[in-house]
Amino acid sequence: MDYRLQCMACSAHYPPNDLRTVCDCGGLLDVTHDLAALRESVSHELFDSRRGEWALPYSSGVWRYRELILPVDEAAIVSRPEGNTPLYRSQRLSGWVGIDDLALKHEGENPSGSFKDRGMTVGVTQAVLLGARAVACASTGNTSASMATYAALAGLQALVFIPEGMIAYGKLAQALAYGAQTLQVQGDFDAAMQLVRQVCDELGIYLLNSLNPFRVEGQKAIIFETLQQRSWEVPDWIVFPAGNLGNTAAFGKALHELQELGLISRLPRLAAVQAHGANPFYRSFVGGFQQRERVTARTVATAIRIGNPVSYERAVRSLRWTNGLVTEVSDGEIMEAKAQVDGAGIGCEPASAAAVAGARRLAAKGVIRRGDSVVAILTGHLLKDPGATVDYHLGRLEGIEPAHANPPQVIEPTLKAVREALQGRAR
Ligand code: F0G
Repeated sequence: MDYRLQCMACSAHYPPNDLRTVCDCGGLLDVTHDLAALRESVSHELFDSRRGEWALPYSSGVWRYRELILPVDEAAIVSRPEGNTPLYRSQRLSGWVGIDDLALKHEGENPSGSFKDRGMTVGVTQAVLLGARAVACASTGNTSASMATYAALAGLQALVFIPEGMIAYGKLAQALAYGAQTLQVQGDFDAAMQLVRQVCDELGIYLLNSLNPFRVEGQKAIIFETLQQRSWEVPDWIVFPAGNLGNTAAFGKALHELQELGLISRLPRLAAVQAHGANPFYRSFVGGFQQRERVTARTVATAIRIGNPVSYERAVRSLRWTNGLVTEVSDGEIMEAKAQVDGAGIGCEPASAAAVAGARRLAAKGVIRRGDSVVAILTGHLLKDPGATVDYHLGRLEGIEPAHANPPQVIEPTLKAVREALQGRAR
């Protein structure tokens, strides 16, 4: 095998065909590739030559980069296929954020409606290679939706643990529809996460949270594809929402490897954005990463309602590699940014809008300059959380003033009533 598992904490090695997702010492595992050998075999031209393919594996925006992700036999790949998501630009949004060169990479336009599909295609492929019968995850919703669809595709049993009453309806609907056994845990995400780790250890079920190093490998493709779409030109900043810190881990690893391989010559700065009420990583950052912080999380952006993120050490490493930073935004800023992204015709779920709110805040502080090139990652689709959107427009979100509310109007079935409604809108 030309890759293996290595512990970040104690450097122990394991062969890749191991069901484990953490080291015996409890440390996080990395998939390590033979970068010296890859230097000879991969190039921009190789990846560019695969663009526009109709057939798997290269029709997937993950497996297009298979050498850098998981060099497995094509026949083993479980793919929908994922990726190939657009980079949007909107003058109106650029103006509002205060950054002229702002692009939005819409990972919500993946098959299950979130970036999780990038990691899940790799995690489920690995599960099949390992001969696993069942897979499991704890989730604020998107991971479970994604795992459920890929597990169904592969014929694996899927077990999901979700915090009771704290996940958006679109996501719950997907887990149920794709046939995952869904356990609503009476507790928050962090409690569900702890439980699923115990369950997987005891019952020999393959864990597919981003703790799993193969998930991280797949999510690196967000960076690879973004750069390829930009003709391999590196932006100054990549801004994204951060919860369990899987993306923070993946983005840093992707960029570090691309630089080691000579495929890019400089690194963008990573800016991870947390909700104020779910900000353990921000608190650690402010303290110079002297201490790992934990909080009891609360935010309207339920996807990132996480108080004890599992990929903490990997994420710190990513920020060190990229001279990155962490910022935080309020729920009000998140929902206002969402209204702007939605109103521009693009749309996203609340957690994704945190990236845009964070970019705006960093621009206002002068950390990101108006002329910097910035890619913000939208992580989930607008329809994932219809409740938050409708509640915003109806002014039903506690403590949030909906400055851009567009509520539906009730009218009598007459032309006169329509005329009056149109005049009301025009005023
Ligand atoms: N955005 C969305 C839409 C998410 O669903 C998540 C995480 C994040 C951002 C944060 O990404 O965990 O890599 O830092 N959702 C997980 C889930 C936790 O269970 O679906 P992260």
